Amino acid sequence: MENLGRMRILVLANQKGGVGKTTTAINLGTALAAIGETVLIVDLDPQGNASTGLGIDPSRRKLSTYDVLTGGATLAAVAQSTVVPRLYMAPSTMDLLGLELAIADQKDRSFRLRNALTRFSADNLSSPDKVTYVLIDCPPSLNLLTINGLAASDSVLVPLQCEFFALEGLSQLLSTVEHVKRSLNPGLTIHGVVLTMFDGRNNLASQVVADVRSFLGDKVYETVIPRNVRVSEAPSYGKPVLLYDLKCNGSQAYLKLASEVIQRERDLRAA
Ligand SMILES: Nc1ncnc2c1ncn2[C@@H]1O[C@H](COP(=O)(O)OP(=O)(O)OP(=O)(O)O)[C@@H](O)[C@H]1O
Ligand SMILES: [Mg+2]
Repeated sequence: MENLGRMRILVLANQKGGVGKTTTAINLGTALAAIGETVLIVDLDPQGNASTGLGIDPSRRKLSTYDVLTGGATLAAVAQSTVVPRLYMAPSTMDLLGLELAIADQKDRSFRLRNALTRFSADNLSSPDKVTYVLIDCPPSLNLLTINGLAASDSVLVPLQCEFFALEGLSQLLSTVEHVKRSLNPGLTIHGVVLTMFDGRNNLASQVVADVRSFLGDKVYETVIPRNVRVSEAPSYGKPVLLYDLKCNGSQAYLKLASEVIQRERDLRAA
């Protein structure tokens, strides 16, 4: 029997800003939900872009991931339903900016999210709408929030923007992942690297894709997310692009990425 009830936890991390972490969390989450998975997005970024992009405005964030990380609320209490069926969101607020100070001297400071997810997972087993995927959206930094994300996860999904400096900073991210693996989370793996904002009219972009593939090999997903204006418009309507314009290239790419992610999960389980 397959691991029924076992949720997979993926963290979207890259300390580079604006590479598509949040856009991928929202739209990969939506695409996974659209093909039958039940998904929880955990917003670990004080900017709260994932929460806003899914239509959860600040007045509806009485409880947030800050409360989860400081022990004031369970993840189940913080998670809300969204405009997308089977997609739930644990929103964040600017309070997260103060997290480091609030828990800096606590021994378990790197494991706050992991502990919350362990509890969530235990309750989840008896829930009728079992969460099968958790996607964690991180801030553009390798700070305590990102460390909590890495320490809590099965795998890392790295969004890389198709630009000249795409690989810059990647070694720093990979060495942080190695460090977390050695010290906090031995089971952590790299799920894959997703190339984002590909612009086919730009010759350089194709060169970047080729370079990244030759450097990282089959760690790079086949699906490349195109630069698409519909993708960037959707958050201002509080909607994932799949609800805003299902037919556009961006939506179709995220659906393809979702099936690739599921296929990789099957391969990992079979291995
Ligand atoms: N495929 C795309 N096509 C067009 N615009 C995109 C695409 N993906 C992301 N964007 C836009 O690029 C900007 C950065 O994306 P996003 O917020 O997802 O990056 P991020 O890595 O989460 O940023 P941060 O590091 O600030 O959290 C946003 O304005 C977003 O709308
Ligand atoms: Mg973001």
